[in-house]
Amino acid sequence: MTGSSRRSARSRAVSSSSSAAAAAAETRNPTTRTRRDMHRGRGPIRLMEVNLKSLLGFGFLALLIVVFLIYDRTASVVDEDRSLRIVTPLPAPKMMDLPQFQGEHKERLYWGTYRPLVYLGIRARTPRSLIAGLMWIGKKNGQYFMRHVCQDSDDLSTYGWTQHNGHDYGLQVLVDQDLTLTTSFFKTKTNGSGYGGDWAVRVAVQNEKSKLEEETLRTAHLFFYLADEDGNAFSIAREDPFFHDSTLLSSGLREDVGGWELHLDSPDNLEVHYAGFRTPHMHNLSELFLQTLGVHATKTRLLQLPDTSEQSPNIVVFQISGNLPFKMDIAFLSGTGLLNSRAEERVNSLTGALLTNQLNVKQKEFEDKYRRCFNVTDEVDSESVTVGSAAIGNMLGGIGYFYGQSRIALPTDSKLGNGKKYVPYWPAALYSAVPSRPFFPRGFLWDEGFHQLLIWRWDIGICLDIIGHWLDLMNVDGWIPREQILGAEALSKVPEEFVLQNPTNANPPALFLVLRDLVSGIKRNKFTAAENNQISAFLDRAFVRLEAWFNWFNTTQKGKDTDSFYWHGRDNKTTRELNPKTLMSGLDDYPRASHPSEDERHLDLRCWMLLAADCLHSIGELIGMKNVKEKGYYTMAKQLSDFEALNQMHLDLTSGAYFDFGNHTEKVRLRWHEVMEPSNNHLKRVLVRAVAERPQLGFVPHVGYVSLFPFMMKIIPPASWVLEKQLDLVFNRSTLWTDYGIRSLSKTSSLYMKRNTEHDAPYWRGPIWMNMNYMILSALHHYSQEDGPYKARAKTVYEELRKNIIGNVVRNYFQTGYLWEQYDQNKGKGKGARVFTGWTSLVLLMMAEAY
Ligand SMILES: *[C@@H]1O[C@H](CO)[C@@H](O)[C@H](O)[C@H]1NC(C)=O
Ligand SMILES: *[C@@H]1O[C@H](CO)[C@@H](O)[C@H](O)[C@H]1NC(C)=O
Ligand SMILES: *[C@@H]1O[C@H](CO)[C@@H](O)[C@H](O)[C@H]1NC(C)=O
Ligand SMILES: *[C@@H]1O[C@H](CO)[C@@H](O)[C@H](O)[C@H]1NC(C)=O
Ligand SMILES: *[C@@H]1O[C@H](CO)[C@@H](O)[C@H](O)[C@H]1NC(C)=O
Ligand SMILES: *[C@@H]1O[C@H](CO)[C@@H](O)[C@H](O)[C@H]1NC(C)=O
Ligand SMILES: *[C@@H]1O[C@H](CO)[C@@H](O)[C@H](O)[C@H]1NC(C)=O
Repeated sequence: MTGSSRRSARSRAVSSSSSAAAAAAETRNPTTRTRRDMHRGRGPIRLMEVNLKSLLGFGFLALLIVVFLIYDRTASVVDEDRSLRIVTPLPAPKMMDLPQFQGEHKERLYWGTYRPLVYLGIRARTPRSLIAGLMWIGKKNGQYFMRHVCQDSDDLSTYGWTQHNGHDYGLQVLVDQDLTLTTSFFKTKTNGSGYGGDWAVRVAVQNEKSKLEEETLRTAHLFFYLADEDGNAFSIAREDPFFHDSTLLSSGLREDVGGWELHLDSPDNLEVHYAGFRTPHMHNLSELFLQTLGVHATKTRLLQLPDTSEQSPNIVVFQISGNLPFKMDIAFLSGTGLLNSRAEERVNSLTGALLTNQLNVKQKEFEDKYRRCFNVTDEVDSESVTVGSAAIGNMLGGIGYFYGQSRIALPTDSKLGNGKKYVPYWPAALYSAVPSRPFFPRGFLWDEGFHQLLIWRWDIGICLDIIGHWLDLMNVDGWIPREQILGAEALSKVPEEFVLQNPTNANPPALFLVLRDLVSGIKRNKFTAAENNQISAFLDRAFVRLEAWFNWFNTTQKGKDTDSFYWHGRDNKTTRELNPKTLMSGLDDYPRASHPSEDERHLDLRCWMLLAADCLHSIGELIGMKNVKEKGYYTMAKQLSDFEALNQMHLDLTSGAYFDFGNHTEKVRLRWHEVMEPSNNHLKRVLVRAVAERPQLGFVPHVGYVSLFPFMMKIIPPASWVLEKQLDLVFNRSTLWTDYGIRSLSKTSSLYMKRNTEHDAPYWRGPIWMNMNYMILSALHHYSQEDGPYKARAKTVYEELRKNIIGNVVRNYFQTGYLWEQYDQNKGKGKGARVFTGWTSLVLLMMAEAY
């Protein structure tokens, strides 16, 4: 969970949708913004621009670039070097250039439901794709709305992929008031197909209560669109005067797939209308279509598209209307127009009864694989089977492909660009499983580590491809931007203030959790020979990147003492936060030292470093590196796992709990103050922190997830009294135990459920989170198998905790229709973002007891 925008996106949705719209609108056009920013404050150049333009016309741009370069050289060489460095890729062979990601693998994953931010969206894994999507008109409180982009305000009572294999099949159910839509995705490559094959979408629409209530919809309007990001023009079959009763809707030509055709087939009597557009903007298609519908409705009083098109359309939308219930099949063929393309036969097999057969086969395959991969035995109750299936289905169905440039914050004191706030990262692709389709439909670095714990067990090829994309985003310093907002579509979901990525901020290197699993999987013969080879080749190439990553942490996040680390970049000046946040840790407002300083030692980061060092060592061994010991990872892992050393730095002997260390006082609180706003001379009430005692160096006495890190990482020897203390803390209702999982912060903590500012409700200060509960369960499982005095106790606690968590997540799913971001520690109720099918999906691994 990556702090800032996670939180912000959440509060944004709660507070005001208009400001969200404004923020989105403001960020909509990256190219013009960049250009505008580059000009800001450059008096002399602007003058020249006018003169030169009139003189030179088009030659101007080239000249301007030259002038820029000269100008920048003289501005500040140091700053420039720094900013250029930030956006320089690590000079190492790209992961995605590995042979295993080319050829068949690449083609196999070409098309997919890779637009997780819309209810149903298809694209190819290429920077400028042909994209497809579904919209429909929904009704709420007598008003009509266009459904397209996943958003909570649409108030769907449930939606999500109940099945998806990440590759060529998915089944999604969406319930919008009385309307139930079932969408199936199917992909195949046959004789005649172009690159990437053909695909089909089936949409079945039903009306639950149509017989009972007069008010309900009797007809439904679906909209299916295609848009070419590359700007290639389409033909629209119905524009052709000789168009006659065929299934063909539209066709076109692309470099990647050759000729293509889109067909519509249905057993029902449907009315079809269309509109064609020519525009480069793909992020606001709902508005575009709505506007067109509105204009036509005003003229004709009909709710239908005008059956017209702009010249050379690169976007076409079809309105498909029918009496409920009805069903439609959309077939997309690639490689058409050649002699042997067998188009008719292929349309046939992608629609109607043949499609039904293919979908049934895929459904069966999915169910079998699901049982096999996640140990679903007859003992598992059917409700859990359903939720587990939705968990993996949504994890895989939530995989997206994005392309664009991150924006990297420049230091505020930077002289470069005279106030320019950011530099663009290099244009890059990301293939990533998103934490939540409506709220966080983009890549998050530390979330991905947890996502892959599920995905590697399902499809190692997809897993490596995703991790490979992340590692390729590493810059020359070994830094990876933690939140990836790539492309206008992704940008349209993020408020402006959270777009910039700070190149001094870390984020837990949770990808090492997966790499560790892969290494141990190889050692324990879990994979086929082919998979072994893939993983080894991957690790071999990844090694230098992982080293750079490690080294970035080891140098930029180190603490004062040897082998101590802290999350650098906490705000030591703020007086508005009860406890300055630590967004880089992923645990946002989890309490740390009250006064951020260089004396801090953060327990969780130390444990992440141990994981990374240990993992690098074992990868080095696995890939047969000769001097692997000399690299220092082994030594470092030994030092960091040294029990005495750990205890000396972090163990509080009285409570037996592990703590952060820092400059701290417990005597802080927020008080209302009146301050004058300089802009308008109005008095404003704000919360300001009052500190009633001088902070001192010492342990930061908050028991919670951070305290449990040494336990989660299994560093504590099974016979140690410290282990017993951890079990005490976990299994005590006055501290961390609840009937729904382990709380993020102990009830006894002074900051338990305390707001951090007037705007920031408690986040990691009480509620139950699934990623950490998974780690805790994993540790309990481990200690319940290790001989020692606490073995039996660990087993009891393990079993009870597992039962509690699964029971609660399953119950919530059936009550609310969703998996949630967190669960309330008092009643177990789902909270925060819903459709949070990222790490909450780990509930499936808990069911499978796969740790
Ligand atoms: C595909 O084409 C090849 C050669 O044209 C033919 O031998 C084969 O039977 C075809 N396969 C199918 C499934 O039609
Ligand atoms: C879509 O966004 C573009 C760029 O911001 C804008 O020019 C255009 O007017 C928008 N279209 C609609 C229909 O809102
Ligand atoms: C399934 O569970 C059994 C018994 O607990 C275990 O031996 C086996 O390894 C598990 N299989 C998988 C794929 O996790
Ligand atoms: C805050 O941190 C900055 C950067 O580490 C440091 O230069 C400054 O002295 C610190 N201020 C206080 C009040 O500790
Ligand atoms: C990590 O940094 C320390 C210095 O702070 C250095 O001694 C150690 O060798 C580094 N570890 C590795 C594995 O490079
Ligand atoms: C702890 O913080 C206080 C308040 O900022 C500061 O005066 C003091 O010097 C700090 N102590 C240490 C040891 O850094
Ligand atoms: C549970 O925690 C509370 C609060 O720390 C403590 O007073 C109590 O003794 C603990 N109970 C047990 C059984 O350890």
